[in-house]
Amino acid sequence: MDEEIAPPGIDVRTPSPARIYDVFLGGKDNFAVDREAAKIATDAGSDIPRAARENRAFLQRAVRFAVESGIRQFIDLGTGLPTQGNVHEVAQSLDPGARVVYVDNDPIVLVHARALLAPSETTAVIQADLRDPGAVLGHAKVRGLIDLDEPVAVLMLAVLHFAEDEEVRRTIGAFRDVMAPGSLLVVSHSTVEGHPETGEQAASAWRGATARLRSRDRKQVEAMFEGFELLEPGVVWVPDWRPEGAGGGTRWMYAAVGRR
Ligand SMILES: C[S@@+](CC[C@H](N)C(=O)[O-])C[C@H]1O[C@@H](n2cnc3c(N)ncnc32)[C@H](O)[C@@H]1O
Repeated sequence: MDEEIAPPGIDVRTPSPARIYDVFLGGKDNFAVDREAAKIATDAGSDIPRAARENRAFLQRAVRFAVESGIRQFIDLGTGLPTQGNVHEVAQSLDPGARVVYVDNDPIVLVHARALLAPSETTAVIQADLRDPGAVLGHAKVRGLIDLDEPVAVLMLAVLHFAEDEEVRRTIGAFRDVMAPGSLLVVSHSTVEGHPETGEQAASAWRGATARLRSRDRKQVEAMFEGFELLEPGVVWVPDWRPEGAGGGTRWMYAAVGRR
C-alpha cells in the first residue's frame, strides 16, 4: 500500500502485528516499516510465511470442526486483516445462519474489515482490546449477535503472544466464566521451542512494533485450557491439529482446542 493513500489515523512509521502478518500472507495492506520487520523474521526463519498460511488453514479446520460440533456463533479475537477463508466465510458456507463477531484493536483492521467482511445481520466487526474482556463482552454488537446461553467458539489465534501472562489469564478466565457448556476455546500461539537457535532472533522482528511477540512453551499453552477439556490431539504444532492430509510442517506455533 502506498503511504500516500494510508487511511487517516493510521501510523505508517510503527510496524503493526496485523500488517506484519499481512506481509507473510502476501497481502497488500502493509507499509515499508512492516515489510522491514517481516524481513527480520524471515531472515531468521524463511518458513515463517508458510507458518502463517498453516495457521490460516488451522483456523479453517477449527471453524469447520466447531460447526460440525453444533456451534453456530463465533467471537474471533485478534481477527487480523481480511484475507481468504475468513471465519464467517467458512462457518456460513456450512450454515448461512452462523453468527460471527470480529474483534481487533488495530484501527487498520477495522478500516479494511468493515469494507471487506461485509457486516450484516450475521456478521459484525468491532474495535476492542482482548485485554479488556469486559468491553468485548459488554459491546452492543456482541450482545446483539452472541447468545451466551448457547455454545460459542472463542477464537484466539496468533494473538495471545501479544499479551502478558496475567493479561492472558484474565482474558481467558473472563471468557471461560461466561461460555456455555459445549463452547470451544481455539488457540494458536507462537513459540521458539521448535527453533532454539533462531527463534529469539525471529521474535525480535516485533520489538519495535505496536506490540512485541512473546514465545510460550507447550506447558504454558496447555495451562491456558484450565477449566476446559483439552480435545485430542492436545497442544500440537499448528499443521498437526487434525490435519486433512498427512500433517507435518512448520514448528513456529502451537495449536489446541478445548471444550467447556
Ligand atoms: C498475527 S494476527 C492473527 C490474525 C488471525 N487471528 C489469524 O490467526 O490468522 C494478530 C492480530 O491480533 C491483533 N491484536 C494484537 N493484540 C491485540 C489485542 N490486545 N486486542 C485485540 N486484537 C489484538 C492484531 O492487531 C492482529 O490483527
